[in-house]
Amino acid sequence: EKDGFDWFMRKEIFEQPRAVADALLGRHTESGALQLDEVRISEQELRDIDKIIIVACGTSCYAAMVAKYAIEHWTRIPCEVELSHEFRYRDPILTRQTLVVAISQSGETADTLMAIRYAREQRSKVLAICNTNGSTIPRESDAVIYTHAGPEIGVASTKGFVTQLIACYLLGLYLAQVRGTKFGDEIAAVVDDLARMPEHVQAVLDRADEVYAIAAQHAATRSVLFLGRHAGFPIALEGALKLKELAYIHAEGFAAGELKHGPIALIEEGLPVFCVVPPRGRDELHQKMVSAIQEIRARGAHTIVLAEEGDESIAPYADVLIRLPRVPTLLQPVVAVVPLQLFACELATQMGHDVDQPRNLAKSVTVE
Ligand code: M6R
Repeated sequence: EKDGFDWFMRKEIFEQPRAVADALLGRHTESGALQLDEVRISEQELRDIDKIIIVACGTSCYAAMVAKYAIEHWTRIPCEVELSHEFRYRDPILTRQTLVVAISQSGETADTLMAIRYAREQRSKVLAICNTNGSTIPRESDAVIYTHAGPEIGVASTKGFVTQLIACYLLGLYLAQVRGTKFGDEIAAVVDDLARMPEHVQAVLDRADEVYAIAAQHAATRSVLFLGRHAGFPIALEGALKLKELAYIHAEGFAAGELKHGPIALIEEGLPVFCVVPPRGRDELHQKMVSAIQEIRARGAHTIVLAEEGDESIAPYADVLIRLPRVPTLLQPVVAVVPLQLFACELATQMGHDVDQPRNLAKSVTVE
């Protein structure tokens, strides 16, 4: 049932083009207008929303962080992201005009379930983004967008994560459509970009061997850092979480702009640092990331740079270059996360760890 793969996780990584396609299936008309029929909240209620709070844990929370960039940009609705367990116990400000979005692959995460129960007690509307039909979180929500990734067996979330990203983009575009903050043709253009994501993810997977070779080089590594900016920042956090879970080594993700405020002190000769470079379309972001890479390289870091096809400016500062397909900045997480998943899976395999059942972890965390 692993279809010839050594691990469910690796199989699930390679299923991502199909999973992304399924997450998009039937969600828009030919003219590009979105229809999310599982959303049982009226359009008037959606127009009245004045704040969105996304609650989630672990990898799902990193999907939420990406969602914030997209949703605020497209809808201009203020959007907060919070770990479910922190949200529930801090007396958050919730009203009938607050939309609480809960992201959970399993739909059974106790922390997130408690958070939505609390939100509904405060009369806020709750929308779940979930991969598991009929699980508790969607059952207790006012609306649900299913991610249609198919069952995810590996404890480390992969296809669950990328399809959460797709669902978040769809939600953002849908809100923009309902509230009129984007013109139909602008929405249709993003939908077109989304429709091309399966082939872009496939293109990254076709070069998996290059990533495996990097993992082979670092089999004795005790620490790895990840840098990103903007929508690439949560991807840095996700790359680090995958390594902690699977390879049991010290791994941390940072916003590249934060380096000089402390983390740059960690850089030492030979330390591997993954750098997610934003597309060149966002010039100011791109330039700042290039400078950050120069800074760490000058201090001895071994830079493993993820940059879009055709971006030559970065080559002199990259010890290793991983090419990403050219996609818009907000959608880049869908392709940028893939090499990081492959790296963690391969490194853990080389270290002899059980990739599907990492120590101390369970697939769904059903206790608070
Ligand atoms: O099922 P959920 O999406 O609610 O799970 C949340 C986290 O427990 C989960 O993402 C965890 O961090 C994964 N093991 C990450 O790979």
